[in-house]
Amino acid sequence: MKIRWGILACGRIAKKFAADLELAEGAELVAVASRDKQRAIDFSKEFPAKYAFGSYQELVEHPEVDVIYIASPHAQHHEHTLLCLNHGKAVLCEKAFAINSPQASEMIELARKKNIFLMEALWSRFLPHYLKVREMISEGMIGEVKGVLANFGFKPMDPVPDRLFNPDLGGGALLDIGIYPVFFAQSILGKPDKILASMDIASTGVDEQCSMIFQYKNGQTASLFSSLASNLETDADIFGTKGRIRLTSRFYEPSATIQYYPDKVDSRQTVSLERENGWGYQHEIRHVNECLRKGLNESPMHTLDDSLALMNTLDSIRAQMGLKYAVD
Ligand SMILES: NC(=O)c1ccc[n+]([C@@H]2O[C@H](COP(=O)([O-])OP(=O)(O)OC[C@H]3O[C@@H](n4cnc5c(N)ncnc54)[C@H](OP(=O)(O)O)[C@@H]3O)[C@@H](O)[C@H]2O)c1
Repeated sequence: MKIRWGILACGRIAKKFAADLELAEGAELVAVASRDKQRAIDFSKEFPAKYAFGSYQELVEHPEVDVIYIASPHAQHHEHTLLCLNHGKAVLCEKAFAINSPQASEMIELARKKNIFLMEALWSRFLPHYLKVREMISEGMIGEVKGVLANFGFKPMDPVPDRLFNPDLGGGALLDIGIYPVFFAQSILGKPDKILASMDIASTGVDEQCSMIFQYKNGQTASLFSSLASNLETDADIFGTKGRIRLTSRFYEPSATIQYYPDKVDSRQTVSLERENGWGYQHEIRHVNECLRKGLNESPMHTLDDSLALMNTLDSIRAQMGLKYAVD
């Protein structure tokens, strides 16, 4: 069964996603929509789609579209997800899923009430190297897990995209990139029992840097950092009583390499995985296709409760520093 995709918003990430749609078997890009018709037409020339709409409304109303990928800024995810669900369309919504937990809860409640598929596009969750790390941990290769260290930092180049520091678009390091270390730690250790956070606030009022410590009653810990001020290694370590697994630079992307440091061996072992062409979004796309073919309304791999738990944690981090967006 072919899954017919629509793309809502023709920005930067939408282009990478559209390129990877071509790599996901049985997925077809049927329609793209932009607030600007010409932009949608140009997009559909680069990534062939039967329909190019000058409004999101036309996309959600179109009968030939099964599922819509929402690629607008975070602050619009709530509105756009409700728009799609209210027109009966399945949704894959970019991260951060929403601005806060009340928004995320409303999106989830509507999807569940209407029995329509909804998933947060946390693509790292579906990448082969991340799945391999989970397998290594569950096989006991690092023993009892003691903690996670992860960072994500880059200095945006001129012209700096407006979205990154604009509070009206949900800007700030935490929601844009800090979400990856937070997801990574939380997906391995679970929701923290206690969070300590500190932020540097940019002139626009959103966080430029964010440091976080997660504490767990069982003694596990995570030390996480995000920055829009400096280029960092953007790597991650998971360490345990028998060894350590390290994900090299851009730990959240397919380009990362897994390095294994067993305690009893003096040398590093590199775990080699075959890497597919593409940006890596094809893995989450294939997963959504499979869920839709099976008639599922929710992903069993990245559940809506996982998305809500992630949002709760992001809320708690922001609350410590009093960082509020207009909708809070
Ligand atoms: N998974 C990943 O690896 C990844 C990477 C980058 C970004 N993202 C996420 O994807 C989302 C979009 O990021 P992006 O980098 O693609 O941003 P972008 O280049 O600024 O594109 C966002 C698009 O959203 C649409 N839009 C709708 N309402 C808007 C508004 N009020 N202001 C500005 N744009 C609006 C615009 O498309 P039209 O004009 O065509 O309607 C715009 O081009 C963000 O939530 C971000 O966190 C994910």
